[in-house]
Amino acid sequence: MTSKDTSGARALDAQHGPALRAVHAELTHTLNAPLALPTGPLVVPPLEKPDVRLSIVIPTFNEAGNVLTLLASLEALLEPVLGASFELIVVDDDSPDRTWERVEEILPTHPRVKLLRRQTEKGLSTAVIRGWQAARGEIIGVMDADLQHPVEANLGLLSEIERGADLAVASRHVAGGGVSDWSMLRRLLSRGAQMLGLLILPGVIGRISDPMSGYFMLRRSAIEGVELSPLGYKILIEVVARGRMRWIGETGYVFRERIEGESKVTSALYIQYLRHLLRLRWDTLPSSRLFRFCVVGGSGVFVDMGILYLLSDPHTLAWGLTRSKIIAAETAICTNFLLNDAWTFGDLAETSPGATSKLRRFLGFNAICTVGVALNVALLNVLYNFGHLNRYLANAIAIAAVTLWNYGLNRRLNWAPGKTTAKATAGSR
Ligand code: GDD
Ligand code: MN
Repeated sequence: MTSKDTSGARALDAQHGPALRAVHAELTHTLNAPLALPTGPLVVPPLEKPDVRLSIVIPTFNEAGNVLTLLASLEALLEPVLGASFELIVVDDDSPDRTWERVEEILPTHPRVKLLRRQTEKGLSTAVIRGWQAARGEIIGVMDADLQHPVEANLGLLSEIERGADLAVASRHVAGGGVSDWSMLRRLLSRGAQMLGLLILPGVIGRISDPMSGYFMLRRSAIEGVELSPLGYKILIEVVARGRMRWIGETGYVFRERIEGESKVTSALYIQYLRHLLRLRWDTLPSSRLFRFCVVGGSGVFVDMGILYLLSDPHTLAWGLTRSKIIAAETAICTNFLLNDAWTFGDLAETSPGATSKLRRFLGFNAICTVGVALNVALLNVLYNFGHLNRYLANAIAIAAVTLWNYGLNRRLNWAPGKTTAKATAGSR
């Protein structure tokens, strides 16, 4: 591509001199000018009317030996499927090997190719988001420039989105996927990172088989208006955690070995990954159901204590302790139920409205919590008498275990999603 273009320009020079060459450059510049750099917060704006179906962002840093090969194979792959309705946005961080220049040279003859050259901001994740901000597509995607991501997987991703997925991920860990020649250590590190993610952010990492993937597509509508704040390399995690992903599709791909250039992964990126996980954990806590369930449970303790005081304290009504406790506990179960039905599981409760189903959920909640109390007493006894644990430690463990029991059963039996919305809520946190 390049040789043809420069030789064309050279021929122009020979015939008509530099003046005409300048006009030629000016004209092609306005036809396909480098994109304006988005600035400000990392938010993908909504588009009133998308210009193209698909925008693929290709972040580059020192990929001069790869980028044109990749662009050519993407064009050859996508033109038969999408016609002119796609764009390939290269986002280069002012690479010392002048990757941006290679792309700039082909802009005039390749209207589907766009270029963002960044000279102040740096880093893979922000490069990708800046590219999406400049994108004019209804579907936005990302893939590496170094030919490690085989271009064909884009078709699988596209068809997942067309089937209705909000996000489609190219995965090494599903049928048709794999890694070519990875050492044991590299495999271990990759899987270890995934395990760590699963511990810290189960509701996010558990939804994707290859959370480390840097090759995916999503509906713009699933992420527009959301402020992103990524750290390090793993932008997919950011997108799943903060975006509105009801349906996630996957397609297998084999991660190829790098032939040209070198990887930019360093050990500092592992630390950044951990910090990224923790930040997302913190930011998404309020939307975690288990967290909400625990907050409601905590409020129940106050209700229980308050009622117990009002009824049984010698300064107040001075009723019998057992009678008072039963009323206190049942009142707390009622307030917990109302809060869980409106907040913790509010979206699920909405799927089966009406007083009858609410009453059914209330009775179910009562039953599960009553069994929970019995379990709590039993567990406390076992841990204290047979495990010889300190009684308060034993009680804390019993309370934590019963909370999980209450949560799990209520989530599965009592607030199970209705049939019609099973797809939409199956993966929700
Ligand atoms: N603009 C920009 N700025 N691009 C960058 C930067 C940067 O700071 N750092 C890397 N890139 C580009 C590279 O040029 C390449 O196109 C792509 O981002 C991936 O970088 P590599 O350095 O090749 O990463 P990798 O091969 O080790 O990691 C790949 O595999 C991981 C899965 O294990 C990437 O696809 C990751 O995204 C993926 O998570
Ligand atoms: Mn790579």
